[in-house]
Amino acid sequence: MPNDEACVREEAAGGVSRRTFLTAGIVVLGGAISALLGATGLSYFISPAFKKDEEDWVDIGRASDMKPGAPLKVDFVARKRDAWVVTEKRSSAWVSTDGKEFTVFDPRCTHLGCPYRWDQAREQFLCPCHAAVFDAKGQVVSGPPPRPLDRFAAKVVEGRLLIQPQAIKGAA
Ligand code: FES
Repeated sequence: MPNDEACVREEAAGGVSRRTFLTAGIVVLGGAISALLGATGLSYFISPAFKKDEEDWVDIGRASDMKPGAPLKVDFVARKRDAWVVTEKRSSAWVSTDGKEFTVFDPRCTHLGCPYRWDQAREQFLCPCHAAVFDAKGQVVSGPPPRPLDRFAAKVVEGRLLIQPQAIKGAA
């Protein structure tokens, strides 16, 4: 064939034949595509391990909906990612604000974990299980709890109130 003869003549003359050049090009291109796909796939599989901190924050509503005065009980769904498994857990929090700062309380009593409620007339949190009383700042007024109400970290981002629903133990 004339093309084969031309290739042999080019190689014999010490040059690179068109066939060799094309073969090398295909190998290089194939390698580049494989590397790109491999890197994309690898990042998909390992990226959940690096997303944990961002996903710990839960959006519980507009900050402007939380008014000073009576604490507001807010229900929310916390999504927790453990590598590739996402679990959902319904929970709630008590949100108190002075109009500037937000304090978010864990809804479980620090004695044995019963849910407590806000009594507007007394302006106190009351736990029905063993008659604990907490003031509006979560301090123990009376009863068996060993420490004030636990809190959740909170911040406002673009008008939304975000919390981290892992209890921060109240300082005694
Ligand atoms: S669980 Fe609240 S007082 Fe015991």
